[in-house]
Amino acid sequence: MSSPFTETGPIEGVYLSDSLDLPAIFGKAVAAHPDLRLYRPDEVPDPARIRFALVWNPGPEAFKPYPNLDLVQVIAAGVDGVLHHPGLPADTIIARVHDDEQAAMMAGFALWHVIWHHRRMEHYLTAEKSARWSRTIVKGLRPPSKVTVGVLGYGLMGRAIAKAVAAVGFPVLAAARTQGADDPGITRIWGEIAIMDVAARSDILINVLPLTDRTRDLLDARLFTAMPRGAALIQLGRGEHLVEEDLLHALDSGQLGGASLDVFREEPLPSAYPFWAHPAVRVTPHEASVTSPSTVAKTLARSVSALLAGERPPAAVDRKIGY
Ligand code: GLV
Repeated sequence: MSSPFTETGPIEGVYLSDSLDLPAIFGKAVAAHPDLRLYRPDEVPDPARIRFALVWNPGPEAFKPYPNLDLVQVIAAGVDGVLHHPGLPADTIIARVHDDEQAAMMAGFALWHVIWHHRRMEHYLTAEKSARWSRTIVKGLRPPSKVTVGVLGYGLMGRAIAKAVAAVGFPVLAAARTQGADDPGITRIWGEIAIMDVAARSDILINVLPLTDRTRDLLDARLFTAMPRGAALIQLGRGEHLVEEDLLHALDSGQLGGASLDVFREEPLPSAYPFWAHPAVRVTPHEASVTSPSTVAKTLARSVSALLAGERPPAAVDRKIGY
């Protein structure tokens, strides 16, 4: 089969990240695609030959040396880190990763936290430390069918989470941008009111929205006040979705009963930050799910191949809507 790459030799790209050693993580998987040649920035032979970049958290000047960069392939599902990057020309294509394996990981992680909050696992851990046999279900725990779980965002991640949560008996409400049919056990709500409507009815609320100008600061005092008293938040989207002070107030006043946070405005989360020690908060270091290196490399190869064929890569994002 002829390849769009072979006539000109390997197409050259660069790894760009301020926070991850991308060659160490992706080098082996990218080597399985011999038509691609990727360099660390300090090893690029000729910056003018660089046509694409594989990126995560690129620095403010990261794109500057490459005048012919046509494609930025992000290693993740979320592209917010490059969407408004001041150094990226408006016509550069940004592509993300759609990874079913990542969605499965995300679903398992979210479900684990749903069970954590619903079954009051914190209570068992505390009791266990002092060898106390302390049962809670017999004291009137609500069954799953009486606990509504809301999912904000209904793309690949949101749908996988909603299905996993519905499969163990929780009624699920999903806030989607667009109209569509309900999936079994899942009620889909769309339009302007969807997010507040879902939040107002959710005993446990999971956020996996993409970060855009419309969703920034969305998890705030207004939304927490609308939620049922004692509800829990599972925040797996982006740190900038959450007004952190508002969450602390909602927890301290008892309006919210608990929160699981995987993403933060500042990452790594500084050790002095109140979330670490807060008894009602679970903190994990932005690891709810990750893309697999082989899927990232395959997506990159597909994106580059489309670029060379003059087509739009299948994983390209719409830069106007932000995903
Ligand atoms: C992880 O944060 C991702 O966007 O895939």
